[in-house]
Amino acid sequence: MSQPSTITASTVAATARSAGIEAELSRVPRSFRILTGDRPTGPLHLGHYFGTLQNRVRLQDLGADVLVLVADYQAITDRHAGGGLAADVLGLVADNLAAGIDPGRATIFAHSQAAALNQLMLPFLSLLSVAEVGRNPTVKEEFSATGGAVMSALMFTYPVHQAADILACRANLVPVGQDQLPHVELTRTVARRFNERYSPQHPFFRLPEPLLGTAALLPGLDGQKMSKSRGNTIPLAATEAQTARLIRAARTDGQRHISYDPAARPEVSSLILLAAMCQGQPPASIAAEIGDRGAARLKAVVTEAVNERFRAIRARRRELAADPAYLRAVLRRGNERAAALAGDTLDSVRRLMGMSY
Ligand code: TRP
Repeated sequence: MSQPSTITASTVAATARSAGIEAELSRVPRSFRILTGDRPTGPLHLGHYFGTLQNRVRLQDLGADVLVLVADYQAITDRHAGGGLAADVLGLVADNLAAGIDPGRATIFAHSQAAALNQLMLPFLSLLSVAEVGRNPTVKEEFSATGGAVMSALMFTYPVHQAADILACRANLVPVGQDQLPHVELTRTVARRFNERYSPQHPFFRLPEPLLGTAALLPGLDGQKMSKSRGNTIPLAATEAQTARLIRAARTDGQRHISYDPAARPEVSSLILLAAMCQGQPPASIAAEIGDRGAARLKAVVTEAVNERFRAIRARRRELAADPAYLRAVLRRGNERAAALAGDTLDSVRRLMGMSY
């Protein structure tokens, strides 16, 4: 799908700004409060790991205050919660901890458990027009991907809810993929309008900035975008045997000589890139090592690279999954901190709006 020029323009601006933010992050990490998160719609996969998990651990280790949101209300924008939600929520907690999020330094919380956060959505909705909310290109794309379902009003307004996530925590930095830039832009609009209307002398909300990732985007096993709905992922929590099976089933082409050429050979190239990311090597040198030994050799190399790279993380994840009481305790502590932060924000918002009775 072609993207509107507004995304392109803001992507260029965000990319330029992200380099400067990285420098500040190294210099004064403690001046950053970072909100990042995922929807609990199933186990995270290697695309999530390389695209976001690894980066949030890096930011935590730099010394920034990292909050990780389990976006459970966003999971019901296009589906019913059903019975699996609690398992998916705890699974996300386990994925984050296994990847290196340290509950002693970072905060993991679910937005259904931070009541004040959700209440902030009401004043925020009053600051936006229906037309503005309806223009969000990401919502349009996500909706069209549901294939003709009825758009729920929560799907329509979820970027406003995301603004509440970010502003409730008073985060000033939001690591995002390009698809999430319109939401950060909307969050800035909400913050700016709130400040203009209710706290013109001393702007209450800081305007959060997006931080665009620099990691190469990992395509799925078929060379298309990696996503659970396409069935082309390798779950972070997969066993070594499952990993081998998934990679064995991946399609390749008829050419025996292995070369890295994403445009002409998407399937082969995405396998090469996966091995390259796991081993921290350039894709071309992985391809050169395999040379004429064909797809079977390529698949063996990729399987070994993935299983090697994720062995420790997966072992840790298995231990965590076996201890749901611990996962729940981590989440409860995170929920308490997030609820307190959001409660403070809501108190100030109500005071500034003259709602103190
Ligand atoms: N919308 C994000 C996604 O679909 C998840 C999310 C919800 C989020 N609230 C957030 C991400 C706040 C960053 C900040 O992946």
